[in-house]
Amino acid sequence: MQFFLDTADLEQIKKYASWGIVDGVTTNPSIIMKEGVDLETRIKEIAEIVDGPISAEVVSEDAAGMIKEGEAIAKWHPNVYVKVPMTSEGLKAVKYFSDNGIHTNVTLIFSVSQAVMAAKAGATLVSPFVGRLDDVSQDGMQLISEIRQAYDNYGYDTKILAASIRHAKHVVDSMMIGADIATMPPKIFDKLVAHPLTDKGLAAFLKDWEKAKAFQKAS
Ligand code: E4P
Repeated sequence: MQFFLDTADLEQIKKYASWGIVDGVTTNPSIIMKEGVDLETRIKEIAEIVDGPISAEVVSEDAAGMIKEGEAIAKWHPNVYVKVPMTSEGLKAVKYFSDNGIHTNVTLIFSVSQAVMAAKAGATLVSPFVGRLDDVSQDGMQLISEIRQAYDNYGYDTKILAASIRHAKHVVDSMMIGADIATMPPKIFDKLVAHPLTDKGLAAFLKDWEKAKAFQKAS
């Protein structure tokens, strides 16, 4: 499974990329607004740190506008994926990008039918928003499961990117279901790596090693 960072915070990206397990980065207009940065500049900076797909979102609402924006975005760096909202205009743009060798991430997916339509248009990735469904008492993980089933039924190679992740269990459940990628806020990387029994076990080993040192041959 691939792990993406869902942030445009360069310090956080550098920190977690140094672990060697960050496969890509996703951004959206809200994330860019939070950082208060120029989108193009920041995407290029991220591309210097992470060697993998980096999503940058178009903001036009009509296909012609999305295509114009997306073609410009795709030239920023070979790893840039054009993020397109799941609308009928978005589908037209995704089909154009797919026919012209431009990778896409279709965002704001909340149903299986949307995911299948995006796949039919040639989307490289789809982003079902797990947390936002849970927020309104629907089952985000059930959506991931149903998209997996539909894609497997028909052999679509569009990748499922579990997005709007709120906690580590969303990531683990996504793994069990077979999502291809999870994009997550940086703090979730910490939750995924840590276990109190690891900390306790390591502390005990180090304490015992202090006593065991006396029996070691000098090297
Ligand atoms: C990523 O591609 C999405 O834009 C993001 O995961 C949305 O997350 P949120 O629901 O926490 O805003």
